[in-house]
Amino acid sequence: MRIDFVPTSTLARRLTIGVCIASLCAVAELLLGALLPSASMSTRFLRAVSVGLTLASVHIGAKAVLTGYQSRKNKCYATLYMLCVVSVVVVALVNVIELALIQYGNDRMVRSDIMEGSLAFALPYASAVLVAQSTLGLHLGVVTALMSAIVFSVYSPISSLALGLVATSSIAGCLAFQRARSRGSYIQAAVRIALVMIPFAVASLAIYPATSAIDVIARIVGCVLSGFLSALAALAITPFVEYFAGYASDMRLIEMATLDHALLKELSIQAPGTWNHSMVIGMMVESAADAIGANPVVCRVGAYFHDIGKTKKPVYFVENQIPGENRHDKLSPSMSALIIRSHVKDGIELARKYKLPKVIEDMIPQHHGTSVIDYFYDKARKEAEESGRSPEEVDRSLYQYPGPKPQTREAGLLMLADGIEAAARTLSEPSQDRIQGLVQKMLNKVFASGELNECDLTLQDLHCIAKCFTRVLTGIYHQRIAYAEPAEKVVTTAEVSAAREVRENLKRLGIE
Ligand SMILES: [Fe+2]
Ligand SMILES: [Fe+2]
Repeated sequence: MRIDFVPTSTLARRLTIGVCIASLCAVAELLLGALLPSASMSTRFLRAVSVGLTLASVHIGAKAVLTGYQSRKNKCYATLYMLCVVSVVVVALVNVIELALIQYGNDRMVRSDIMEGSLAFALPYASAVLVAQSTLGLHLGVVTALMSAIVFSVYSPISSLALGLVATSSIAGCLAFQRARSRGSYIQAAVRIALVMIPFAVASLAIYPATSAIDVIARIVGCVLSGFLSALAALAITPFVEYFAGYASDMRLIEMATLDHALLKELSIQAPGTWNHSMVIGMMVESAADAIGANPVVCRVGAYFHDIGKTKKPVYFVENQIPGENRHDKLSPSMSALIIRSHVKDGIELARKYKLPKVIEDMIPQHHGTSVIDYFYDKARKEAEESGRSPEEVDRSLYQYPGPKPQTREAGLLMLADGIEAAARTLSEPSQDRIQGLVQKMLNKVFASGELNECDLTLQDLHCIAKCFTRVLTGIYHQRIAYAEPAEKVVTTAEVSAAREVRENLKRLGIE
């Protein structure tokens, strides 16, 4: 008989998720259970268990259906449940403050027609969803919306409406927040949440009749308040999630991409050629990411920082070399490869020193994946052959980047743009047709090498990427209209050596 053991890592993951769900239920019962009429211990326990089981079903269902949710790591799930707990605490706190304000009004003999149930509309239900969307992405944002809806549907005084109200308004806010790149996005999300909630407030009149006109107005104003309180809470919580969990919202990434960052300043001074290369790649990946539905901000910022390691030894990289001067001429191929490969390690060290977000740090090793530095590998094999040894004796691992291969579509895009931009620079007459041919050739080469096997780029994506890269590169490198030249063209020595250099660069990039 064969017994299959569950791997320890899977057990640990299931245990973590179980503990998170149980903690969420306990917090909800403790804080929100007080809002409901008093119940026996067994009722409270059964209520918490039923919420826990429903949340677990949502998690298992999302894992089976949402591709983006499946590939997430344990840390993301833990953050998601933590956000749900924070959301419960925020809603309970706001509820206490609102009740205290009403009590204060009653004590001061201010006439109050507002029922406590009406206050349920003025709670910041969507706060956790907005934070999850901006830091963890759309998939986890939608799952957080469903989880929040389940918790609040059990504990809200308007329980018969709460499931639909919280789920639809949170998802509307989440979708409005999908391209959160300015503070205005928070206002946009708040307005969307309020607009979706208002019909629910009107519908609530059929189930919970209003005591007066003020009560009706209070429910509608409550919806507007809920939207703005959710946005405000998200604005306050997001920086803490970024700091403690190491995630980066689009807004934080945009702040980094202002070229005011110390690392980018250093790059522009120490390695102006690399800086220029990074800026051009930034344009290429941003345009392609928009076309295929990847995150353009992550792509652009990743492009700006992907080669920061080159600031350590800039003159050993072709884009920073003065024509006719090549430091590698005096070095052995293995030494040259060691220096070239070290820009990845140096880049990771700098990223950690300057506390770059993990998503950007990960793009530094992934933009080269496990590719081989063909130029120096071929040179080493040729030298081995000339000295009478077998080329097979050359250790390939010395010329290979350590990896890992690109793990996300954004990192895959960066890898493609990196090689294509470098190759486009070497074109002697960069017409649109030549750029298009080069882009296609390089895309095929990277695809065939298997470097894109671990990211989710499809063939359809590659087709879109080729079109976008060609358009951007044609705009930058297309041939300018030449000035009038003498009838007889004299080929100078400088032009001959420039042509030779172009051929050399193409060889180095493995194109010719
Ligand atoms: Fe690089
Ligand atoms: Fe690069």
